[in-house]
Amino acid sequence: MKWIVDASERRELLGDLYGIFFEDLNHAADGGLYGELIRNRSFEFDSIDHPEYHHLTGWEKIEKGDQVKLHIMTGGAVCEKNPHYLSMDIKTRESETEVGIQNLGYNSGIPVTAGSSYFFTCYGKREQSLDEPVMISIRSRNGEIYASQEVCFGTAWEKYELVLHSTSTDYSSRLAITVKGRGKVYLDFVSLFPEDTFLKRRNGMRRDIADMLQVMNPGFMRFPGGCLVHDGALDEQARDSQYRWKNTIGPLEARPARRNNWNYNQTLGLGYFEYFQFCEDIGTEPLPVLPGGYDPHHQRYAPLNEMEPFINDALDLIEFANGSTDTVWGAKRAECGHPEPFHLNYIGIGNEEVMDAFFERYDLIHKAIREKYPDIKIINTGSPFAEGGEYDRGWANAKKNRSDLVDEHYYMSPEWFLANHHRYDSFKEEDPKVFLGEYASWGNTWYNALVEASYMTGLERNAKSVALACYAPMLANVDYVNWRPDMIWFDNHRIYGSANYYVQKLFMNNKGVYRLESHLEDAPETVTIGSDSIYGEIMLSCNKSTIYYSDIEYADLQTGEKKHFDDVVCDHNNERIPLLKSGSCHYQLEVTAREVDGWRGMQIIFGHRDDKNEFNWILGGWQNLDTLINEKISGKGSDLCQHTFSVQKGRTYRLKLEVKGRHIRTYVDGMPYHDTKSRIPVIEPLYTAASINQTGDEIVLKAVNVSEQARQVTIVLSGLQECLSVVEIQQMAGYDTNAENSFDEPEKVIPAAWEEEIHLPEFAYNLPAQSVTFFIVRPVQRDGK
Ligand code: AHR
Repeated sequence: MKWIVDASERRELLGDLYGIFFEDLNHAADGGLYGELIRNRSFEFDSIDHPEYHHLTGWEKIEKGDQVKLHIMTGGAVCEKNPHYLSMDIKTRESETEVGIQNLGYNSGIPVTAGSSYFFTCYGKREQSLDEPVMISIRSRNGEIYASQEVCFGTAWEKYELVLHSTSTDYSSRLAITVKGRGKVYLDFVSLFPEDTFLKRRNGMRRDIADMLQVMNPGFMRFPGGCLVHDGALDEQARDSQYRWKNTIGPLEARPARRNNWNYNQTLGLGYFEYFQFCEDIGTEPLPVLPGGYDPHHQRYAPLNEMEPFINDALDLIEFANGSTDTVWGAKRAECGHPEPFHLNYIGIGNEEVMDAFFERYDLIHKAIREKYPDIKIINTGSPFAEGGEYDRGWANAKKNRSDLVDEHYYMSPEWFLANHHRYDSFKEEDPKVFLGEYASWGNTWYNALVEASYMTGLERNAKSVALACYAPMLANVDYVNWRPDMIWFDNHRIYGSANYYVQKLFMNNKGVYRLESHLEDAPETVTIGSDSIYGEIMLSCNKSTIYYSDIEYADLQTGEKKHFDDVVCDHNNERIPLLKSGSCHYQLEVTAREVDGWRGMQIIFGHRDDKNEFNWILGGWQNLDTLINEKISGKGSDLCQHTFSVQKGRTYRLKLEVKGRHIRTYVDGMPYHDTKSRIPVIEPLYTAASINQTGDEIVLKAVNVSEQARQVTIVLSGLQECLSVVEIQQMAGYDTNAENSFDEPEKVIPAAWEEEIHLPEFAYNLPAQSVTFFIVRPVQRDGK
């Protein structure tokens, strides 16, 4: 096989193509990237965040007997935006040891290392009668003290700051605040940061996590979510409000604690200023996402004539990032310590919203941004689906508004990624560009990463229409997992990158500036995985509902054979009633369905081989708002196609499913819904991409071999003069397809790098089975230039 790369002509700019997506889920911010070591630092945890939370979550009494009473107070807090604080009512005799409280931190506790320093801050005050110093210490679970200092609180709130030097290494330690005597001590905003944050910033980022992101060299960072952005009350003062950026800047004490929609609490200590600064620190383009006056999770939307706060949020954010210090929001940025602009170029409005109600609101925000800031690139949501009515609506809206980018999201089986490698080949250059804002195949194995690598060559090849892409989600604290797979895993002191991380990093570090055209010659056959048709059992089912099915007719459209079935009731959650095994490649099922109880509608399973390999026509999916065709391969689901649809209880529906080969059509009461193909997964002989840098002295060749055979390939760099060159090779190969990195084996799946002297412009290379190989070619001319 020959791989011919045209090195003589620069094609599209690859721009910021590969980036990262930060969402505060899996404790990615508090207990993650945000360096704060104290959990529930201002006693604001509440059952609105999580049913088990209360104002003392994360804290524990230290006492002998009944010598300290803890009370959560309101009224007279340090800042009324965080209204709760702690009163410790202490009753010890002078000779006795201190009593008080200790914070348990995240995971196993507060991680400290011998010789390191920690910045402690708190607000404190005492009752006049209690004239004893307060001891602040870092100690083991058993009370062994690693660092301690005393402070004397005054009788009015004051901020106290100390540096604690730990004498020991202990990843499960506690931060204790203890006192002797009789009387009351009050506490608020108890904080402990390692001195050694990323770039040693105060209120900074955890260094190991930030380092792993920085070395990826991402083109952009999308933040702060995800569903986190739009799931919440529309009133920004509400405790469970959507993520409203103005709540997240300024003094930490004045940033109101909020419910994180992933079932925990967010301090907002990592807020918009810190996000912008972090992007600047790691040299990446900030890409913020704002809610668009619509909460799809609870169907809440701002009246159209009350959209001003959302429009202003967008305009003011751009001013906050880019405006001169003479502007209101530019001045606020300067107050935060950054008079220079942050050079914001992108803004996303909404995340995965569907339906007209959102887009009516999007249009208003879009128009206001365009008028005031014509150069800002505006991102229109493209729904959480890869295909179907709402996906089309997102694109139609973007075309109508001439949005710059459309944010596509999909989490699919590896086979879907193989089957859809050419998804973007037919996209038009003149249309809004694709921003693949969330994607991942279900898993962190080497196979997942390998398939994603193959898909990324397709993104790069289509740089004319794909502008930005980021794997999702990015971070997961192993003890607080909301979502998997994730790119980087950590606990309170350890971290490892998944196989997927190393693939992403390879592509980001070696993107190049311009795409080069390349093609294969004399390539072996493409290998097909699976059959051309959807054979298997057909079953009727339900989802948290009771469904009455009647007039059930099956027709084999090849043979003309028909079958009629008796009425059935699915009255258990997910009960499945088998009808028949279809061996035909062209068949139709018609059935009348009525939901008699419940709320999640009907499901028709077809092409069922086993519980891990089947298709499902879902009616009434996600909050009874969708109809979907889902394909499961080896237990990993892919939503092939979606339309808006709600099942009304008591109403009868005539449902028709038609399957021809891998083509699936559905109808409800004669109205067409899905018309989709389950594309057959294939493994192409080789997946390739090539690029060149700005100065033309570095060419990157990316080859992904998904097949189980090694590939002998002759690489021809046409347009390049003959020369001997030292080529850098970076390769991921030789792992079991199920191999995964872990704390115990963090480097099981990582690239190897070496150099080889190679005669250019043509050389032969053996690409191992299931490998990713990058050649970084720096051609040196004969005269040594
Ligand atoms: O990445 C996890 C979630 O997946 C995001 O919050 C959401 O946008 C998507 O549905």
